[in-house]
Amino acid sequence: MRNLTNLDQIRGEMLETLRQVEAEDPANTSLILLSHALNRPKAWILAHGEYALSTEENHTLQNYLKQFLQGVPLPYILGHWSFYGREFTLTPDVLIPRPETELLVELALDHIKQMENPKVIDVGTGSGAIAVSLAAESPAARVFAVDISLPALTIAKLNAHKLGQPRINFVQADLLAPFQGLFDLIAANLPYIPSRTLEQLPALQSEPRLALDGGEDGLNLINTLLEQARTRLSAKGVIMLEIESTLGEESLFATQQAFPEAERRLIPDLTGRDRIVEIRRR
Ligand SMILES: C[S@@+](CC[C@H](N)C(=O)[O-])C[C@H]1O[C@@H](n2cnc3c(N)ncnc32)[C@H](O)[C@@H]1O
Repeated sequence: MRNLTNLDQIRGEMLETLRQVEAEDPANTSLILLSHALNRPKAWILAHGEYALSTEENHTLQNYLKQFLQGVPLPYILGHWSFYGREFTLTPDVLIPRPETELLVELALDHIKQMENPKVIDVGTGSGAIAVSLAAESPAARVFAVDISLPALTIAKLNAHKLGQPRINFVQADLLAPFQGLFDLIAANLPYIPSRTLEQLPALQSEPRLALDGGEDGLNLINTLLEQARTRLSAKGVIMLEIESTLGEESLFATQQAFPEAERRLIPDLTGRDRIVEIRRR
């Protein structure tokens, strides 16, 4: 990109560049990058086409654009992303929280609201998106969050403090291994992409493999969690698992092996694809 200084000119040039690489929604992407580089709202960018960028602003913008063109996802460039109405700090150490996971939070909250002082755990917390959302929306719940990745836990703790939820208990652990007591709700969005499928998804290569790779059939961690949860779920407890949309039947079968006595169902996301498995002890 040439070194243009007027906002309108720069935006036009950025649009052209982004269209050439077939970026999704170039108009919005250019606005987001400009807004981030200038630290101004998008509306301000739109209203000040004549504004001349300083050398420093120009430099920052070129740096963001370069990263984007190299394939760095927007949330990592911005360093934050919105999930369930809150702005989470993100680094490449954690998965970018997805909109479909908001469904898991929504359904988990429906259960939590009917429980008295429930003990809740988010397994594989990443940025803390699920744990922080559950804690913020249900003050009576005692919330635990686990991740095997220490760098991820550092970001999750930062988010918990930033978003006013310092009471969450963060633990570095392999799933539920160290826990002895019973949980009333176990929520997990574990890595669920089959290893071979992951190799064919270049769009996901910027995110931690540890957050995505579900092993040969995508169910490695889910199976282990289900096995562990048998002795760690309370009498009327609930498990909510996010799953890969093509693994609905296999996931349901896995839950039948571990919890044959419980109510089990598959719940679709907004696009109609299998997305959540719910297990309820009766
Ligand atoms: C798909 S990401 C989900 C992150 C976050 N819960 C979300 O929904 O955005 C899965 C997370 O599980 C963690 N993880 C992977 N293996 C684990 C294990 N054995 N025990 C605990 N956490 C694990 C990864 O580090 C990663 O943060």
